[in-house]
Amino acid sequence: MGSCTLSSGGVCVVVVLLCLAACCLTCARGAVPAIYVLGDSQADVGNNNYLLHSLLKANFPHNGIDYPGGKPTGRFSNGYNFVDLIAISLGVPSPPPYLSIRSKPMNSSVYLKGVNFASGGAGVSNLTNLAQCISFDEQIDGDYHRVHEALGKQLGIPGAKAHLAKSLFVVAIGGNDIINDLLLSPVSELLRSRDEIVSNLENTLKRQLQTLYDLGMRRLFFVGIAPLGCCPLIRELNPTKECDAQANYMATRLNDAAVVLLRDMSETHPDFTYSFFDTYTAVLQSIRDPEAHGYKEVKAACCGLGDNNAMFLCSPASVYCDNRTSYMFWDVVHPTQAAVEKLMKIAFDGSAPLVSPKNIKQLTES
Ligand SMILES: *[C@@H]1O[C@H](CO)[C@@H](O)[C@H](O)[C@H]1NC(C)=O
Ligand SMILES: *[C@@H]1O[C@H](CO)[C@@H](O)[C@H](O)[C@H]1NC(C)=O
Ligand SMILES: *[C@@H]1O[C@H](CO)[C@@H](O)[C@H](O)[C@H]1NC(C)=O
Repeated sequence: MGSCTLSSGGVCVVVVLLCLAACCLTCARGAVPAIYVLGDSQADVGNNNYLLHSLLKANFPHNGIDYPGGKPTGRFSNGYNFVDLIAISLGVPSPPPYLSIRSKPMNSSVYLKGVNFASGGAGVSNLTNLAQCISFDEQIDGDYHRVHEALGKQLGIPGAKAHLAKSLFVVAIGGNDIINDLLLSPVSELLRSRDEIVSNLENTLKRQLQTLYDLGMRRLFFVGIAPLGCCPLIRELNPTKECDAQANYMATRLNDAAVVLLRDMSETHPDFTYSFFDTYTAVLQSIRDPEAHGYKEVKAACCGLGDNNAMFLCSPASVYCDNRTSYMFWDVVHPTQAAVEKLMKIAFDGSAPLVSPKNIKQLTES
């Protein structure tokens, strides 16, 4: 380390520590070669930027105000989203949006480093936000399926299998199905009961996760649904501004179903392991006792307009809060970077009941 001998003692220590950190990252790289991400706006890193007719975009200010360079990327956040933070913890790159790399030369070798298929607005049901996003079915049966094939050609079938088995899959889906149902409830209520809706979603999700298993997924981090009734958008619909009980009921029902589904999958397939993050409970704990969890504001959105900044999405015309680290919500539905930092800290090395049966660290070890 030539620079060490030239440096003063203090700088040398810093350099050594940086070297150690870099080594550590290299070790982590051995354990997880790549991350493959599917889901909705929580995880979207810019796929929707490429959808000409979609209104569900975030590639304009004030989104990204705390992202490196202060620039909007399509992330529905003031800064990093939760996928970025997992990638940082694992020492691998946060995978790029599929639509930004699919037509690159040598795309197969790019896919080896991970791909993010998530699209803002997507839901378990392929009717959720139809035409505004890449549906979850399309992410799996279309985009990921093509990438899976390309990896097979690049590495050979056994090579691709081994690569994918070591990789981390991240899935965050289901919240939009509930939000859509709630916003359209006068219509859907006439058609089907809430329990029926949840059990339909459950059956669809089961098929979708099974398809991902068939296409090589062996390590899954599944993000449970948040207490959506408490997000600024849904609170605002409530005359009392309290959390909406119907939305929260549906979120817990779908989470319970996902837990059973994942447990069944791991029993049926002993080579499948997973980590379920109980977003619902973790977020509610903070909402019930904001100060203890480092928040000053857990009801209003940071960026928006009108009552609680909850009447409009974050846009260049919005106002935004000065201290983003004290807010739970960035806009009417999405968390701030500070909030996902707190949540992913638990997901990464926390314990049951908030993250189970393994945390991300345990899931990705060896
Ligand atoms: C990779 O790029 C080629 C050439 O642009 C394209 O035909 C192919 O569909 C791409 N593969 C995937 C999986 O997107
Ligand atoms: C949605 O999925 C169902 C099966 O679950 C399928 O029959 C239908 O064609 C799909 N619709 C669209 C618009 O993709
Ligand atoms: C911002 O909020 C955080 C969390 O509430 C607090 O610790 C910090 O001191 C605040 N920063 C400023 C500049 O007010």
